[in-house]
Amino acid sequence: MTVLVTGAAGFIGYHVAERLLSMGEEVVGVDNLNTYYDVTLKQGRLDQLARHPGFRFHKLDVSDREAVGAVVAANPGLDRIVHLAAQAGVRHSLIDPWSYIQSNVMGHLVVLEVARHLPKLRHLVYASTSSVYGANRELPFRETDRVDTPISLYAATKRADELMSHSYAHLFSLPQTALRFFTVYGPWGRPDMACYSFARAIVAGEPITLYEGGELRRDFTYVDDIVAGVVGALAVPPDGRVLAENVGEGASPWARIMNIGNHRSEKVIDLVRLLEESLGRKAIIRTAPRPDVDVPETFAAVDKIGGLTGFSPSVRLSEGVPRFVAWFRKWHAV
Ligand SMILES: NC(=O)c1ccc[n+]([C@@H]2O[C@H](COP(=O)([O-])OP(=O)(O)OC[C@H]3O[C@@H](n4cnc5c(N)ncnc54)[C@H](O)[C@@H]3O)[C@@H](O)[C@H]2O)c1
Repeated sequence: MTVLVTGAAGFIGYHVAERLLSMGEEVVGVDNLNTYYDVTLKQGRLDQLARHPGFRFHKLDVSDREAVGAVVAANPGLDRIVHLAAQAGVRHSLIDPWSYIQSNVMGHLVVLEVARHLPKLRHLVYASTSSVYGANRELPFRETDRVDTPISLYAATKRADELMSHSYAHLFSLPQTALRFFTVYGPWGRPDMACYSFARAIVAGEPITLYEGGELRRDFTYVDDIVAGVVGALAVPPDGRVLAENVGEGASPWARIMNIGNHRSEKVIDLVRLLEESLGRKAIIRTAPRPDVDVPETFAAVDKIGGLTGFSPSVRLSEGVPRFVAWFRKWHAV
């Protein structure tokens, strides 16, 4: 059978598609290849995927319902969807809020509509984010925590996706799992994120800005662990029995939400030190106050996904950073 992967040219989408293909699945990938960051990198990921005979790609916007509908109609074997296409990044949502509504809200609706009309659909797994926890103080973040105080439009759109999905689960018995990703890093990573952007600056001898001197903490999650969690979750759709983990009166048994993180909260300055070590160069550090869209700390409780799928993150930051740097050196020829 076939899996539709949206955002297949993106960081996580590429890795998920690669894993599914290596497991012998057919994958239909879609992505609009937008210019939020270097398109050469997106194309590079697609070139890797194109080596698999089971991979097909369509350049389209997920908010374009005719285009998505046509791809789905042309692939009658589709029975699962991994929806990762989105406008990502919290800070950029201050600059171009429109793209967040278009891609993350309209795009999500299109995917829900397509899923609803797919007779063979077994499971829709989609990307949410640790950002939905906003400035919550109680750690680690748990799926049962309140998440109605987002501090960025990005977080608001992702929470909106979870709510829209719940309504479709309730109305149409559509089996869905939201995965709240926690700061993913690794080879083929995203140039706008800390690990990649710091590496570039260190190599170029340019300064990096650390908020609060790098004392902010993040639950950095290596991409291979993320992929294991996504593929594991995809294999266990909600089956309509009341989910023990669902809280709240009226919660649909078809809608599941799970954290996916490393379950270790580490200081950003420790990431910088590991990058310096791997790159053999010192960073030039500037410090600045934490911007309003950034949270002081993220830390994922992962017992829910662990209990359901056996998920157990295994790559520590000290192992993952050298692996990222090895890829970075090759890709940038440094
Ligand atoms: N990387 C992380 O740490 C992280 C953390 C939390 C949540 N997420 C979520 O995980 C998903 C994947 O993130 P990523 O890090 O791989 O980001 P990414 O930007 O590398 O991948 C997203 C891909 O979606 C594509 N895309 C964007 N808007 C589109 C649209 N309207 N139509 C079609 N394609 C579109 C982009 O071109 C890109 O290739 C996103 O939904 C993101 O919000 C990521």
